[in-house]
Amino acid sequence: MRIVAIVNEKGGVGKTTTVMALAALAATTERVLVVDLDPQGSAVDWAAAAEANGKDLDFQIVTARHPENLQQMRSLEFDLILVDTPGNLQNAELLRQIASYSDHVILPTEPTAMAVRPLVRTLQDVVRPTETPYSILFTRTDSRSFRDTEDTRELLEGFNVMDAYVRSYKVHERASIDGTVVTTYEKSRASMKAAKDYEDVLTALREQWSNEDNQQKGKTA
Ligand SMILES: Nc1ncnc2c1ncn2[C@@H]1O[C@H](COP(=O)(O)OP(=O)(O)O)[C@@H](O)[C@H]1O
Ligand SMILES: [Mg+2]
Repeated sequence: MRIVAIVNEKGGVGKTTTVMALAALAATTERVLVVDLDPQGSAVDWAAAAEANGKDLDFQIVTARHPENLQQMRSLEFDLILVDTPGNLQNAELLRQIASYSDHVILPTEPTAMAVRPLVRTLQDVVRPTETPYSILFTRTDSRSFRDTEDTRELLEGFNVMDAYVRSYKVHERASIDGTVVTTYEKSRASMKAAKDYEDVLTALREQWSNEDNQQKGKTA
């Protein structure tokens, strides 16, 4: 069982979209639970839209109010728990607790110079004190801002930025309203590319997680 929190103090960076995409993809082979710790409940609303549209999700989704609930959830029969979190600057302590109960933290961010400061702040205030391994994930990148992406990667030198990244696609934007997830998008060239981005992200994460497991074994051996 692995608990993975999706965190960034900045809103609108693709946290909930990433949670739902990774949950849908992982659920094709694993038992997945999404825990919505965001009082706004966007993940829960998304699941409700899926149900209303007759597009049942292959994973479960629950709300939680307190980070300690994650500790109790460790004994549940799931392989992967993905935690959606609120994005605002008043929540550092809450996010720190969530990170400390998690095995890994994913930090989605737009690949712009402007996004770097809040991201580094979240890393320093929230993630670093817990020593939980993390990955920075570029989201909502577009081909016109390829230079921005590369420049931002340079600004973040020394931090763990994933090579895999998520491009901006209309299907992602509509997904929460349509109640769709990457595995249920209507097939088109664009939607297949959109899904492929998150498949690549999950593959890279699984590789990283297996390395972390091995390091952990090394420590306890
Ligand atoms: N890869 C993407 N391509 C296009 N739109 C995206 C993408 N990721 C997120 N969005 C859109 O950006 C907005 C914010 O995304 P969301 O996942 O809700 O962010 P957060 O949970 O961090 O606030 C939403 O309207 C969402 O549909
Ligand atoms: Mg959200």
